[in-house]
Amino acid sequence: RRDLLLGLPALGLGAFALGGCAQAGATTDVENVLSISLNQTESHPSFSALSFFGEQLAEATEGRWGARVYANESLGAQQEVVQLVSDGAVDMAVISSTQVENLSMDFRPLNLPGAFESIDHQLAVLSDESIVGELFASLEPTHRLRVLGGFTQGSRHVYTDRGPIEGPEDLAGLKIRVQESDVFMALMRALGGSPTPMAYGEVYTALQAGVLNGAENNEVSYVTQRHYEIAPYFTLTNHLVGLDYVMANVDRIEEMDEADQQAYADTFAAAQEEFVRLWIAETDASTQQMLDAGVEINEPDPEAFGPAIEEVGRTFLESAEDEGMYRAVQAVAESMGEENA
Ligand code: GCU
Repeated sequence: RRDLLLGLPALGLGAFALGGCAQAGATTDVENVLSISLNQTESHPSFSALSFFGEQLAEATEGRWGARVYANESLGAQQEVVQLVSDGAVDMAVISSTQVENLSMDFRPLNLPGAFESIDHQLAVLSDESIVGELFASLEPTHRLRVLGGFTQGSRHVYTDRGPIEGPEDLAGLKIRVQESDVFMALMRALGGSPTPMAYGEVYTALQAGVLNGAENNEVSYVTQRHYEIAPYFTLTNHLVGLDYVMANVDRIEEMDEADQQAYADTFAAAQEEFVRLWIAETDASTQQMLDAGVEINEPDPEAFGPAIEEVGRTFLESAEDEGMYRAVQAVAESMGEENA
């Protein structure tokens, strides 16, 4: 895949998409088209928000800059793509926080269960420069990567080909796909299942082949990836509120003049707001689709999984720096609680 991509400048990256779903997510008639890699389908809110970003960017820069979103892992799975963005072969990508942790452990405190209490809490942390400012800039000197911001993954839950799942004993011996991450491996063990790390785009086929008995994700991914067709037992484990980062190659951004760089940042901020609006609507719509499709949604006793999940959060706080960041994140939740009181 990498060889293919490195050959692309000669072809023009645009030509790459023409075979498939030609214009989806594209901005037409712009001078410079940024390539954005996404592992989701075109019905996912990330696709819509990034397509909106491309259109708005073209407008704001009077056609000097735009973007095209390559959906369905067509440029590669996240673990490879993050490297392609770092190398400048791809301009931007949505990368799950688990993969970013594989580049820098400084991101880990934000990946732990218990870090974010809710989507609102996560959004408040993402806009708190004192917590994320240095962190988000830290990959620039080492990897040429800039974190533009985040798209929430909402609450993640476990789903299986059998059920109902009431507690860890019901997951014993079941092979459950997790993201390629130590935290997720440990988390799945704590939940009682056998963790099987795998790229997102391979899960459907692995479920179908019986290599997996289940996976864990949010309602929107469960529905857009059609995992419910094979694993129709959805257990509200609420094990954590996940986060996707939108990352860009810094050298590519710096090709823009100053005014266009400002337009780029402002347009991204608008796309992030658009994403939140879409996310909330799509989570509700997905839940409805699940019910319509006959998915069995089970809400186990919070005590069944809760203490084991919390324990994983504590185990992975290894250094004083990590603890400091984790505490700063908790403090945001506390101050939100006080405001609402
Ligand atoms: C979510 C998330 C993706 C991630 C996926 C996964 O869908 O938005 O970025 O890749 O989970 O479980 O791998």
